[in-house]
Amino acid sequence: MYNARPGETEPPVTVPSLRQRKARGERLSMVTCYDASFAARLEAAGVELILVGDSLGMVVQGHRHTLGVTVDHMVYHSAAVARGARRPLLIVDLPYQAAATPERALHAAARLQAEGNAAMVKLEGGAGHVLDAIRFLVERDIPVCGHLGLTPQSVHRLGGFRLQGREPDAARLLREQALAVQQAGAELLVLECVPSALATEITALLEIPTIGIGAGPGCDGQVLVMHDLLGVTPGRRPRFVRDFLAEGGSVEGAFRRFVEAVREGSFPGPEHSYE
Ligand code: KIV
Repeated sequence: MYNARPGETEPPVTVPSLRQRKARGERLSMVTCYDASFAARLEAAGVELILVGDSLGMVVQGHRHTLGVTVDHMVYHSAAVARGARRPLLIVDLPYQAAATPERALHAAARLQAEGNAAMVKLEGGAGHVLDAIRFLVERDIPVCGHLGLTPQSVHRLGGFRLQGREPDAARLLREQALAVQQAGAELLVLECVPSALATEITALLEIPTIGIGAGPGCDGQVLVMHDLLGVTPGRRPRFVRDFLAEGGSVEGAFRRFVEAVREGSFPGPEHSYE
């Protein structure tokens, strides 16, 4: 039972509402977050989905990839974010190899829900063992978000953080995996760094919403890593990022501009997408 706090008017975003939002053509905004203060700002700006991403290994911990992030780290940051925001749906990554077997995935996901207050967990990949883990969790009432395309936990196999699904065989595999992830019971799917046309095609194939990052404007929603959205990530800004802090003038202004731009369909533009 959800007890609203004084002043809270909007009901929380729920898992069952995701398909309905897609059917109504409502675009969803998702931002990554790692602490309570920024979570409160994201909630005030009207973000529907908050992702405690294992990108925290890079933007918070300063590593070159996400492989050193542990379930303990994710539980800690998830609990902090949950204290800061109640309306957005809280989605948390299963970190590197936490879904190597269904039993491991269940152990990690149950901790993320019980200790970290997560509503949904995200698993990278579409291989057989990931589909097994998704089914195992969903059968036990743990909502799942899939993640296909550039899956950062596979950085060594992929040879770097680069566009996926360009060749016809790779595109066919991604289409098949997207359907398989939905079939296994996922209620949401992140598509990272895939050509715009392919993401649009996959979005049309699925009943569950797709959330794109570097996947063009044809997805049902968009996600950015918060540090990219605010322009504080060191180094070169990725092509799919827009400087929302410059537009919004403040942290909350930047989040509001992102939400508006996603809702009105002005982000991402062609300059932020891959052909
Ligand atoms: O870890 C993360 O922040 C993510 C997003 C890039 C989707 O998975």
